Amino acid sequence: MTADNRKPISADAWDEINFPRPEENDFDRVVERALSRRGFLGGALVFGSGAAVMGAGLLNLRPARAAQTSRFAFQPIAAATDNTVHVPEGYSWQRLASWGDPLFSGVPELDQQTGGTAEDADKVVGENTDGMELFLIDGRQVLAVNQEYTNNEVNLPQAEKGTPRNASDVLKLQNLQGVTVMEIAEGAGGWSIVKDSPFNRRITHNTPMRISGPAAGHDLMKTAADPSGTQSLGTFNNCGSGKTPWGTYLTCEENFNGYFGATAEPQLSEQVAAGYERYGVSVEGWGYDYHKWDARFDTSKNPNEPHRAGWVVEIDPADASSTPVKRTALGRIKHENAATALAPDGRVVVYMGDDERGEFLYKFVSRDIYVPGGDTSTLLDQGQLYVAKFNDDMTGTWVALTPEATGMSEAEILIFSRTAASKVGATTMDRPEWVAVNPVATEAYCALTNNKNRGVKTNAGGDQQPVGGPNPREANNYGQIVRWRPAGDDHGADRFEWDLYVMAGNPTVHEGAYGGSPNINDGNLFNSPDGMAIDTTGLIWIQTDGNDSNEKDFAGQGNNQMLAGDPVTGQIERFLTGPKGSEVTGLCWSADRRTMFVGIQHPDAPFPDGEGKLPRSSIVAVKRSDNALIG
Ligand code: FEO
Ligand code: CA
Ligand code: CA
Repeated sequence: MTADNRKPISADAWDEINFPRPEENDFDRVVERALSRRGFLGGALVFGSGAAVMGAGLLNLRPARAAQTSRFAFQPIAAATDNTVHVPEGYSWQRLASWGDPLFSGVPELDQQTGGTAEDADKVVGENTDGMELFLIDGRQVLAVNQEYTNNEVNLPQAEKGTPRNASDVLKLQNLQGVTVMEIAEGAGGWSIVKDSPFNRRITHNTPMRISGPAAGHDLMKTAADPSGTQSLGTFNNCGSGKTPWGTYLTCEENFNGYFGATAEPQLSEQVAAGYERYGVSVEGWGYDYHKWDARFDTSKNPNEPHRAGWVVEIDPADASSTPVKRTALGRIKHENAATALAPDGRVVVYMGDDERGEFLYKFVSRDIYVPGGDTSTLLDQGQLYVAKFNDDMTGTWVALTPEATGMSEAEILIFSRTAASKVGATTMDRPEWVAVNPVATEAYCALTNNKNRGVKTNAGGDQQPVGGPNPREANNYGQIVRWRPAGDDHGADRFEWDLYVMAGNPTVHEGAYGGSPNINDGNLFNSPDGMAIDTTGLIWIQTDGNDSNEKDFAGQGNNQMLAGDPVTGQIERFLTGPKGSEVTGLCWSADRRTMFVGIQHPDAPFPDGEGKLPRSSIVAVKRSDNALIG
């Protein structure tokens, strides 16, 4: 596949295609090497020989607590390979919103021939729904949802292979991405968008942003159009989400590098060139071709513009006229999501994964404390950024990224966080995706989706990716979920203990490490955990973005899906399957928790409109038939 031949595909998969690496995996050798590392989890885990070790191995941080009877209020469903959504018996789903649905009256429904106009593209639900959060504002339910990227062949159906033909096509793509904020309501016919609500707004690749925190105004953040280095346009590749205790939305800029290209070889300082290399900013770009039609994205003209992307952005969903704020104190990485917690003393903790092979897991701890009702406008501007170092003895440390530790200035640490983290010897991870904080126990989880380069080659910064610790399998194509418990039950603490909650795998195909951990069985097969959320009862919901070929290593795993896990027993059961080709990503609940909203990203046709229609990323609403609580 080439950059001008883009079909619906995961943005993460696109990243892999654009940065190809050896595809050849010698599984016998791989398993042998993994098995030779038996006991990597404190000597407790033994692969392959018996499922019974699970309770004493992967979950051995949990103090002896009697295994409970199943907490799952549903009968698990089978893997699926078809073009629709499935949920358990006693549950139902409906479409809430799809790409192209109007937010305002007077805007037409999606034109299936053209995919809509550039001018209307910022007045409709955007493309590729991803992280989302629901806010209850004055009794009204307001959903903020990320629109991560575009499927150019789908969104520009009249352009050959989806390649933008002109500035209007580029504007349309820019308008279809970013964030949608919309009021939703449940009526007799189910859930729907409240058109013309004062909360409805689209934030796009051109929306004015304020840059705040220690990197704001630094020379590396300045452009000809913004000599102050404090005001940029647009938020990019909005992947996972977060919600602050004070009711704002955090949207996370992931594969921002793909939007930039160059019409001539850019003249870069050594520092900037090194940053381009580490973050994957290329001359060609990823096929959006913005740089050919919009000079802001042409790095030969605006070499600092990429520094103004890759941040966590805070949005006030209660005020449609508010200016989103790029919080530089949280670092510049390929942000997956931003999971918040409060330390016992009231400091705000934000956990963040950097989703690329061999990149790192971070956390921010605010300097000031959160006081309900107090001023929160600068809480995410002052604090310390840390990166995780995991030890094989199942302990770990959050290493502070300080000028003393890195030899970099505070602003440089934030703008080139990857480089700073490499300098302190952080642990290279198997692509950190979502972090989820458990609301009923002091612990957090991170989905490590997969990493074919584990034990095979270095990350983009030249750091080794050794097999071991929380990344125990060479050429890992299934993924795992790591969990940590901070010392002293304090998310602000520098130390933690960790274990693996699950290693995905396929015991019907492989023995040993690639069969997965013992809580994987032929009834709950999946690969590539990605989205995660833990509900108020403490059940962990796991969404996947992986290989849905349903053959070879992935036989029996079916389409991407959502499973529920019990953190205590390790039991994992399949709850929902997505349509063929889709990634299941984004999860939140209605205010009364009787509806669960789930994102279906980049399905194949004919979801959801039927044969001959364009495939449309959609948010579905899932309910119990008896209208009981759902998580
Ligand atoms: Fe946008 Fe790493 O997923
Ligand atoms: Ca993801
Ligand atoms: Ca992914």
